[in-house]
This record gives sequence, structure tokens and C-alpha cells, in this order.
Amino acid sequence: MKFQNVHIAHDDEKDREKLLPLNNDDLKDEKDIASPSRPSFAFKCYVIASMTFIWTAYTLTIKYTRSSVEPEQMYSATTVVFCAEVLKLIITFAMFYKECNFNNAQFLEKVNQYFLNAPKELAKMSVPSFAYALQNNLDFVGLSNLDAGVYQVTTQLKVVSTALFMMLFLGRKFSARRWMAICLLMFGVAFVQMNNAPAAESKQSGEKAENYIIGLSAVLATCVTAGFAGVWFEKMLKDGGSTPFWIRNMQMYSCGVISASIACLVDYSRISEKGFFFGYTDKVYAVVILLGVGGLYISLVMRYLDNLYKSMASAVSIILVVVLSMLIFPDVFVGMYFVLGTMFVVLAVLLYNSVNE
Ligand code: C5P
Repeated sequence: MKFQNVHIAHDDEKDREKLLPLNNDDLKDEKDIASPSRPSFAFKCYVIASMTFIWTAYTLTIKYTRSSVEPEQMYSATTVVFCAEVLKLIITFAMFYKECNFNNAQFLEKVNQYFLNAPKELAKMSVPSFAYALQNNLDFVGLSNLDAGVYQVTTQLKVVSTALFMMLFLGRKFSARRWMAICLLMFGVAFVQMNNAPAAESKQSGEKAENYIIGLSAVLATCVTAGFAGVWFEKMLKDGGSTPFWIRNMQMYSCGVISASIACLVDYSRISEKGFFFGYTDKVYAVVILLGVGGLYISLVMRYLDNLYKSMASAVSIILVVVLSMLIFPDVFVGMYFVLGTMFVVLAVLLYNSVNE
């Protein structure tokens, strides 16, 4: 990956010059910090490659911590999510401070103006934040009522729901070729997921039918909330007035801290019995950092690219996880579904990028 960083260091500098005001006078023009700069191709590659690698590392680390720790020694997922949200919020404050050239007066003035005294804007950003929180809970309902294979395959419908929301909210139009790429991406990831799907457990048929209806409804709802949240967030970044990018993130993640705190309260009896940081090892801290930084890279992808590029990066990350898991975990294998799915994903990415719309 070193070669990327060499290019990026150079292009990144230029991008940062466009992104960050050079002196305090520049900051007076609010549009300078609010409008997205025109990033170079290399900078976009850097952002999307970073997102892909961070999510791959996150998934592998979480898999590792789950498989190597006894259930009674397991950390609480709700505290991990809470710590990641707090980390995202701290980083967004730090990035905005940097964007203000470490000038305390400028920083406080802008935070006051755009964050503390802008409740309407905060309310707008609470929409995707709470939609993501709802999605995480619906994911849990889906996973508990369906077998993992069915869940992972049906959840890929969110690629299509995302494209539909992009048409609706962002006024995007996709050519027939791009629709083909979107569908190929959805089927490709579904096939890759089928590769590792454990065999369905046999349940009583009545119970199974009921679980299926609950589980499938949750998955369909999660596809709607995921697509909706992502596109709303993108709209706020690209079309949401003069609020600076890092302030948008502050608004989003402050709501994230609130919803993660509520989840911790729900989990209170376990947390109070065992302690907030129970089961935290170096690898669990790594999970927190990767989850936090991974979320911020999603923001960057949505700012400089769009939601569908994010879906493509997630698809590549899912494939990388399977390939790397083969080296780390003894029970992972690669079959026909994986090969077919990977071919579909590669074709989808090429097809999507073969037209300039
Ligand atoms: O399922 P999906 O890929 O849409 O999930 C995205 C995840 O990334 C959500 O859990 C959300 O909390 C997180 N996210 C983030 N920052 C953003 C957008 C999404 O942390 N700007």
C-alpha cells in the first residue's frame, strides 16, 4: 500500500489546501469551509481504499475477539459502540480545530454559530443518526429470527434501496448500464455471503414461519433505514447550506452518543454487574478505534464520492474479509458461490465506472 501513500501525500496536500483555509481571513468566507473542494482522483482513491481497509480490519478484529474469547469473558457490544461514538465526536472536534488553523477564537465562534446555536440543523442531522441506531437494532431482530445466510443475503437489498433514495432525495438518474451494475453488485455480495452461510437450523415449521415473517420484515425495514440514513447524510453534506463538513459530523455523532447511551442504559444490569470495560483487551480497543475511524471514513466517502461508491467499498471489504479469514480462521473455505460473487462484484464496479454520468 506504500505506493498509494506516496502519491497521496502530494495530492492530499493540494486537496487540503483547497479544503482548509490558509489563514484566518479566508475563514471569514463561510462558503470556503462549507463547500466541498474538488478532490483529485488520487485523493478519492485514498479515501475509498482507506475505508475498505479499515472496515476489513474491523470485521476481522471483531471476528477474532468473538471467536477467541469465552462467552462469560465477552465484552459488551453496547459499550464498544458507545466508545466508538465518543471517539468519532472527539476526532470531529479535533479536525474542526485543525480546520480553524488551531485558532481558539475562530474555533469557538464557529462551534457556537453552527453547532450550539443551530438546533434546527442539529435536528436535521439527528434524522440519519437515529435511523442508523434503528438500523442497528433491526439488524439484531433480523439476525435473531433468520438464519445467518438468509439474513446476509436479503440485507443486500440495501444497495437497491440506496440507489432509489438517491434518485428521490438527490435527484440522481442512473442509466440502464448503471442499474445493471447496481443489481450485479447486490447479487455479487449476496453470493459471497452465501459462501460462508452456516446451514439452516431445523426448527418447528410453525415457529419457523413466524420467525421468518418477523425476520424478513426487520431486514426489509433495515434496508429502508440504511438507504435512507446514508442518502439523507449525503444530502446534508452536499446540499445542506453553509454548515462546515466537520460540524455536520459533530451534529451526527453527538446524536450518536445519545443513542449509544440509551443502548447502554438498556444493557445496564449487565454493565453494572461486570463493569463498563469488562473484557476489554488490546484487540477490543482496536475494535473501538477501527469502528470510530471507519465511520469517519464513511463520511469522507460520502463527501467526496457518494453512497454507491460506499456500497462498492463495502462489497470489496466483504470479499477481502473472506480471503484474509482463510489465512486466520481454520473453518473458512472458498467455494463456487464466492468465486461467482467476486466476479459479479468486480464486473459491477467496472460497469458502474465505465460510464461518466
Ligand atoms: O449498513 P451500513 O453500511 O449503512 O452501516 C453504516 C454504519 O456506519 C452505521 O452503523 C453508521 O453508524 C456508521 N456511519 C458513521 N458515519 C457516517 C455514516 C455511517 O459512523 N457518516
